[in-house]
Amino acid sequence: MPEILVLYYSRGGSVAKLARQIARGIGEVDGMTARLRTVPPVAAVTHPDEARASAPPVPEDGAPYVERRDLAECAGLLLGSPTRFGNMAAPLKHFIDGLGAEWASGTLVGKPAGVFTSTATMHGGQESTLLSMLLPLLHHGCVVAGIPYTEPALGRTRGGGTPYGASHVAGSGDDPQPSDDEAQLARALGRRVATLAGLLSR
Ligand SMILES: Cc1cc2nc3c(=O)[nH]c(=O)nc-3n(C[C@H](O)[C@H](O)[C@H](O)COP(=O)(O)O)c2cc1C
Repeated sequence: MPEILVLYYSRGGSVAKLARQIARGIGEVDGMTARLRTVPPVAAVTHPDEARASAPPVPEDGAPYVERRDLAECAGLLLGSPTRFGNMAAPLKHFIDGLGAEWASGTLVGKPAGVFTSTATMHGGQESTLLSMLLPLLHHGCVVAGIPYTEPALGRTRGGGTPYGASHVAGSGDDPQPSDDEAQLARALGRRVATLAGLLSR
């Protein structure tokens, strides 16, 4: 059965909850299943002596860490990250920066892809983060998918959810629970990428 990779970093759980909604959406498409994966945290190194593994070999809970074969085996992918100063978080960027071999061999060329994020504040950079996450996907030859306004929740949402990708506004209390509209839009993005993957792999 074709699998769609849902690859994310999440420290507080907001992006992880969106990832689960996206996975539900993928599962709603006949013959498609989601493969949830995460990336390890990274630590700033201020002295060479401090260079060392910053994460356990497997996560203590949640999705397993991504492996290179996940990229090769997926029929499509979704990338998720919290917004950090209007951009994606370093652990996801660190992982993407290590994908030179995949870029050279065209591992992701022609695969549909989408993105998702979470912010604390409504205007704290969701759109800049989502758009910047699409850039490496374009370099890798992915067929980029957003969320069309034919999704009723997109015109209705008072929180996250954008044409550039799925999102959640966690607020000052960092509430990880997506609103109904945010969850609907995340599922819609998952369904869309999975549907496109089915069409493109014919
Ligand atoms: C270093 C740092 C930078 C952040 N930058 C932003 C930002 O630019 N805009 C914003 O609204 N929230 C920002 N946040 C808040 C996170 O994006 C927000 O809490 C998000 O929901 C966390 O996702 P997670 O629960 O999946 O880790 C920042 C948080 C940290 C720790």
